[in-house]
Amino acid sequence: CDMWRSDAIHVRPIRMHGARVDFRKSRVAINHAYSGVRSRCVVFRWRRATSARAVARRPQCASSSFASSFASMLVTNFDVESARVRRRCVAADDDDARGAVEVVESTIRYQNTRVEKKSGENGSSKFSFIPEETEYVIRTETAVPKVGFMLVGWGGNNGSTLTGGILANRLDIRWRTRDGEQKPNYWGSLTQSATCRVGSYNGEEVHVPFKSLMPMANPNDIIIDGWDISNVNLADAMARAKVLDYDLQRQLRPHMEGLTPRASIFDPKFVASNQADRATNVIIGTKEQQMAQIRADIRDFKAKSGVDSVVVLWTANTERYTEVRAGVHDSEENLRAAIKAGEEEISPSTLFALACIDERTPFINGSPQNTFVPGVLEASLRLKSIIGGDDFKTGQTKMKSALVEYLVGAGLKPTSIVSYNHLGNNDGLNLSAPQTFRSKEISKSNVVDDMVRSNPLLYAPGEKPDHTVVIKYVPNVGDSKRAMDEYTSSIFMNGSNTIVMHNTCEDSLLAAPLILDLCLVAELLTRVQIKCESDGEKDCFHHLHPVAVLLSYWSKAPLVPRGMPLVNALQKQRAMLENFFRAAVGLHPENNMLLEYFS
Ligand SMILES: NC(=O)c1ccc[n+]([C@@H]2O[C@H](COP(=O)([O-])OP(=O)(O)OC[C@H]3O[C@@H](n4cnc5c(N)ncnc54)[C@H](O)[C@@H]3O)[C@@H](O)[C@H]2O)c1
Repeated sequence: CDMWRSDAIHVRPIRMHGARVDFRKSRVAINHAYSGVRSRCVVFRWRRATSARAVARRPQCASSSFASSFASMLVTNFDVESARVRRRCVAADDDDARGAVEVVESTIRYQNTRVEKKSGENGSSKFSFIPEETEYVIRTETAVPKVGFMLVGWGGNNGSTLTGGILANRLDIRWRTRDGEQKPNYWGSLTQSATCRVGSYNGEEVHVPFKSLMPMANPNDIIIDGWDISNVNLADAMARAKVLDYDLQRQLRPHMEGLTPRASIFDPKFVASNQADRATNVIIGTKEQQMAQIRADIRDFKAKSGVDSVVVLWTANTERYTEVRAGVHDSEENLRAAIKAGEEEISPSTLFALACIDERTPFINGSPQNTFVPGVLEASLRLKSIIGGDDFKTGQTKMKSALVEYLVGAGLKPTSIVSYNHLGNNDGLNLSAPQTFRSKEISKSNVVDDMVRSNPLLYAPGEKPDHTVVIKYVPNVGDSKRAMDEYTSSIFMNGSNTIVMHNTCEDSLLAAPLILDLCLVAELLTRVQIKCESDGEKDCFHHLHPVAVLLSYWSKAPLVPRGMPLVNALQKQRAMLENFFRAAVGLHPENNMLLEYFS
């Protein structure tokens, strides 16, 4: 039975770290007396007016001998009531012309465990685990600005597919295939198409769309611009990519043929020689002039489109690794001096990253190369400008980081992981050169390390599974990449278990929703600040570390702040993101205990 409800939902964090959900028939706040809920409640609301409805669907009966009547509902319109959440106006940053901005502040007790090593008698030592709590306040600016994305490699398969996909959604374009009429969607985008469990209401599990938790831009409102070394317009680029259905391309063409990428920085030394024919749209000049042009382009885009906030994302060709040299890349000062001197070993992607940092514009690297040389990291830290990456985690690696997390977490020991790919798009052509393939190989190879290291019961120090990655260019399959994987694990009593999988999918249909998520969340992070109790009583909020670790879920080789443990395990990455979002609105982290049902 499907039913629609238009009542508002109120979500209250309760002491046992769940959330209690109330339906409100009207917008008038009614204070139910819940035991355990603090007496003063603040109600805040940041839902857009897009949907005032909650839909409840009763799924098929679970196949359990208890014939569970479990049901769930999706709620898009809700408030969080908590004494630990407040909405107020605060002074904007010094360089912000707005003067004052409205924020929501959520105070959380962050729970962690301190580990201490103590010496015992006779020279023995013993560890103590000390649970501790630290108070943080997360502040989020509620007003969602007009957002623009600038894609480097806009005319490629990913760039044209994302642009076509957003336009199709915005214009609600329907198209026909042999399977009938198709409707646009944002499936594959975590923010747009995934949900989080909040609590239960009258025996029904309550979920909210990920995008409803925090105030994020609507993808349909995004303005896209960008650069490409190929001067082909976006309609022709979409046709060249051969990803979207013909009937859709036909309808999108009038909306895309007027979109032409800006000229870009091209350096043939950093990509395969087979890419040179594509370079018809390049910025001439010294490295310093090229970087200045990228900065001017960002400002020009802002001025002409009226967007308030821009995110730049590299979805251009994979470059070979930069040979990081002392005196050139090792500090911001040296890097800037080397750019001025026209040093050859500075890649186009590094120039883009530094130009974006100088413009205080978030820059995300969707390819595997080492764009973020130490000088770039230093600049991003100094100027507090967000960077994130590396390499989209779309298909084979995403599966790997989920499967190996499961295997090692279950106490099974993967001993060999062999991954073959073949693909026939321009990315595959570029990766057919050994030096660019090497960048991809590095990015794909380290993905299981954290999971292996997490279980010394299975692996001796330094021991790892055999891990091989092969990529071949096969033009016939186009963008429809084939990925074949064989996982062999040691199991009970040294038995052996081999799992083989074959995945076929248009690469760009996997990557486009990730690009969307990366850019939307990067923009959101520019509006988030944090304060720790050790920062004192004053209003000394600061932005999160500019290395945007919350983007890890979408990255094959996540960039993390120095000293932070690297997490590749997919569900841990998702939990980090979800729990951060929950904390920012005053909800407890999802602990999956469901204690209220069995205590
Ligand atoms: N599609 C996926 O699933 C996926 C997953 C992980 C990483 N990636 C990476 O994303 C990138 C893009 O993939 P794609 O399939 O769209 O490739 P593509 O070859 O179709 O697109 C890349 C575009 O970048 C342009 N380009 C090259 N050098 C440039 C430069 N210096 N400045 C501006 N434009 C430049 C090319 O002309 C091309 O149009 C690749 O590096 C790929 O490895 C893709």
